[in-house]
Amino acid sequence: MKSTDIRDDLELGAFLSWGRELHHQGRYEDAVRAFELILGLDRDNEEALIGRNRAVRRAVPRWHWEMLHDEERAELYDRAIRQAVAAAPEALVLDIGAGSGLLAMMAARAGARQVVACEGQPSVAGTTSRVVRVAGYDDAVSVVSKMSTRMTVPEDLPRRADLLVTEIVDCALLGEGILGTIAHAREHLLTPEATIMPSRGRIIAQLVESEPLHRKNHVGKLYGFDLAPFNRLSTLEYFDSRLHRHEHRALSDPLTVFDFDFYTADARPQRTELRVRPTAAGKMHAVAFWFEMELLPGITIDNAPGHDSHWKQAIQCLPAPLHVQPGEPVVLDASHDGESVRFQVVDGVGS
Ligand SMILES: C[S@@+](CC[C@H](N)C(=O)[O-])C[C@H]1O[C@@H](n2cnc3c(N)ncnc32)[C@H](O)[C@@H]1O
Repeated sequence: MKSTDIRDDLELGAFLSWGRELHHQGRYEDAVRAFELILGLDRDNEEALIGRNRAVRRAVPRWHWEMLHDEERAELYDRAIRQAVAAAPEALVLDIGAGSGLLAMMAARAGARQVVACEGQPSVAGTTSRVVRVAGYDDAVSVVSKMSTRMTVPEDLPRRADLLVTEIVDCALLGEGILGTIAHAREHLLTPEATIMPSRGRIIAQLVESEPLHRKNHVGKLYGFDLAPFNRLSTLEYFDSRLHRHEHRALSDPLTVFDFDFYTADARPQRTELRVRPTAAGKMHAVAFWFEMELLPGITIDNAPGHDSHWKQAIQCLPAPLHVQPGEPVVLDASHDGESVRFQVVDGVGS
C-alpha cells in the first residue's frame, strides 16, 4: 500500500467517525454534510452511503412520499397555480417550502418565467435543485437553501414576489408555522398586491367517542399489572390519525374553531371558548379536528374525515373520558400559540 493510500484511508476514517459522532449527537443535517464530503472523495464508499442514508432518514420526514402521492392535493394546487399564473404571466413566483420542487415546477409549467423556490432543510434543498434540473425547469426555477424567514431582497429574491405559493401545513393546519411564515413574507418578501396561495384556512372540530383512539394515548391494567402511571408520558397535544380507520361515534356536529385570512393573519396566540352541544349521549374520548383551506377563491382543499388525504386528521385525546349528553353543553377552551392547536374541557357533565 502506498503512503498516500494510507493517508487517504486515515482521512476517510476520521471523516466517518466525525459523521457518526454528529449523528449520535442528533445533528443529522450536519452528519449528512459530513458523509457527503466523504462521498465527494470516494463516491462508492459503502459506510458513507449508509451513514448518509441513516442521517437522512432521521432528518427528512417520511411523510414527503405519501404527500407527493396525494393526487387530490396535487390536482387542486395545480389548478389554482394555473389560474393564478394565467392571470399574471409576468409574476415573480415565490414557493415557500419547496420540498421536491413540485409546486415551483407546476408554476413554471403553467408559464411562470421566474420562480424562486426556497427550502429550509439543507438536505432537502440539495435534492430540490436536482429534481428541478432533471425535470428541465432550471431555467425558470431557482432554489434557495434557506428558511424563508431568513431570506432577504435582493440577495435571495431579485425583487418582492407577486405570487406566493406555499403548502406548509400539517393535519391541524398550523403545525408547520404557516401563520408566522406568511406574515413574515407579506412584510419582507411580497409586493403589497401579491396573490397569496392559500388565501384562507379554517380549523373545524368535532367531539368523538372512540375507545381505539383513547387506547393510542392511554393504558390501564394489562397482563396483571397496573400500567396507568405510564400515562404521565401521554401526549397532551394532537397526533395525526385516520378517524375512519378507528371505530368511533360523533358526539357533536363539526364546528369552526378558528378562521384565518392569510392576507392579514399573524402568529399571535389566540384563545376562544366554545359551547358545544352534544348531539348524542356518550363517552367523549377526544376532539377530532381538521382544516379547510382555500387556495384561491373557489378552489378549496381539506382533510375532513372520510377521504384518504395524506394529512389524516388531528386527534387530541382527553386525559380522561367525559360523559356527555344532549342538552348539556361541553365548554371547550380552544387555543393556539401560532403553531400548535389545543383544546381543554372547561366544563362538562363529568367522567
Ligand atoms: C409539506 S412540505 C411541502 C413540499 C412541497 N411544497 C409540496 O407541496 O410538495 C413543506 C416543506 O417546507 C419546508 N419548510 C417549512 N417551512 C419553511 C420555511 N419557512 N422556509 C423554507 N422551507 C420551509 C419543509 O422543510 C418541507 O420540506
